[in-house]
Amino acid sequence: MTTEFINQNLETLYSAEQIKSRVQELGKQITNDYADKDLVLVGVLKGSCVFMADLMREIDLKLSIDFMAVSSYKDGTVSTGDVEILKDLTNPIRDKDVIVCEDIVDTGLTLFRLTEILGSRGASSIKIATLLDKPEPRIKKELEIDYCGFQIPNRFVVGYGLDAAGRYRNLPFIAAVRNPAEI
Ligand code: IMP
Ligand code: MG
Repeated sequence: MTTEFINQNLETLYSAEQIKSRVQELGKQITNDYADKDLVLVGVLKGSCVFMADLMREIDLKLSIDFMAVSSYKDGTVSTGDVEILKDLTNPIRDKDVIVCEDIVDTGLTLFRLTEILGSRGASSIKIATLLDKPEPRIKKELEIDYCGFQIPNRFVVGYGLDAAGRYRNLPFIAAVRNPAEI
C-alpha cells in the first residue's frame, strides 16, 4: 500500500507478517483445545472481521461462525459497561462451545457484558479471543482473556480491522496513531 492513506501520523506496531505468524499460533492452540468440541466463532462487528477471517482459516476443525454487533453506551468517552445489541446471532448457541472474537479489549466492559449475555443462553463454554489487549487502562471488571494476539501500550491503534471514525480498517498492518486529533 502506498499513497497518503499511510502517513507520518501512523507508526507501525505490528507488520502483516508478524500478525500472520501470531494468528497461526493462536489457530494451532485453538485447534488443540477444541478437538472434540462443537466450536462456534462469534465475531463482534465490525472490528473483528479481518482477525476472524484469518483466524478461522488457521483452525483445522469443523466449526461454524456467527456475528453480533453491539454498541457500548458511553458517558462522554468513558464506557458505562452497558451494551445494546444492534445485530444478534443468527443461530442459537445452546450446548455450543463459543469463542467470542474481538479486535481489542480496552476497558473490558463491552466483552464482560457480552459474555454475560451469551452465558445466559446455555452455551457449553464461552471463551474470548482478542487480537489486541490494552491491559493498562482496564477499569476493570475481571475479564479472563483466553487467547490474545498482542498486549499493547495504552495508545490508540488502527488497521487490521481497527478503525478511527470508521476508517483505516483495511490497513494490512497495525499502527499506533501519533496524534489522534489529526487522524
Ligand atoms: P471496551 O473494552 O469496552 O473499552 O471497548 C473495546 C472497544 O473499543 C473495541 O471493540 C474497539 O471498538 C474500541 N477501541 C478501544 N481501543 C481502540 C483503539 O485503540 N483503536 C480502535 N478502537 C478501539
Ligand atoms: Mg469493537
